[in-house]
Amino acid sequence: MPDRRPYIAGNWKMHKTGAEAEDFLWALLPRISGEDRAEVVVCAPFTALSNLVDGSRGSRVKVAAQNMHQAEQGAFTGEVSAAMLSHLDVRAAVLGHSERRQYFNETDEALAEKLPVALTAGIEPIFCVGESEAEREAGQMEDVLRRQVTAGLSKVAAADLPTVVIAYEPIWAIGTGKVATTEQAQEAIAFIRSLVAGIEAGAAEAVRILYGGSVKPDNAAELLSQPDIDGALIGGASLDPADFAALVAAGDAA
Ligand code: PGA
Repeated sequence: MPDRRPYIAGNWKMHKTGAEAEDFLWALLPRISGEDRAEVVVCAPFTALSNLVDGSRGSRVKVAAQNMHQAEQGAFTGEVSAAMLSHLDVRAAVLGHSERRQYFNETDEALAEKLPVALTAGIEPIFCVGESEAEREAGQMEDVLRRQVTAGLSKVAAADLPTVVIAYEPIWAIGTGKVATTEQAQEAIAFIRSLVAGIEAGAAEAVRILYGGSVKPDNAAELLSQPDIDGALIGGASLDPADFAALVAAGDAA
């Protein structure tokens, strides 16, 4: 078994001002100072990123954005480039979250551009994929995952594939309290790993694949015990420093 480092990422979505982000860090950092096995990532709104970068220097917390534009610069009102993030010392970005696909017209084509641009700028992509409830019920889960994974990774250089983090987030489990069973999560993630193997055999064992969708302190350990689940992308439960610290502890123990 390859020893893939557990990856615990909190996705704050549109929550917390810069000041609230600092308060969160002060509460979190003493709670997670003991171990250093899991990677700890906080994916925050653009306006809180520099507060988090400054407040987390020297700690184990890595700061991530929740989106990024693929162009270097230009007439894209409201958007932020990879260079703008890396100059802030932001080191990762969520790309292709289902909320962005659903509400903001994020496409597979745009994601195909975004991943290599992020990697070139030293931004680790946390690349999200996942099927809707209707797609799962229609037996289309594998087709959807194949389409999303193949498109999103299509322009990533083979040597960079192991540094992409993939998050499997079934849309029906996000924010619903309806967590996928460990079997469903393991099965989908093993399938995604087989898709990566189809692109570049050597990368599949190294690439980290997370589960996301109603992960909480009381279900994390079981999910993380599965052979292919390398971490979690956590929405609601990442907003509370005590809950997030408990999730980091589950990652440290995995
Ligand atoms: P949730 O969100 O943990 O609140 O279900 C997960 C996500 O959208 O990343």
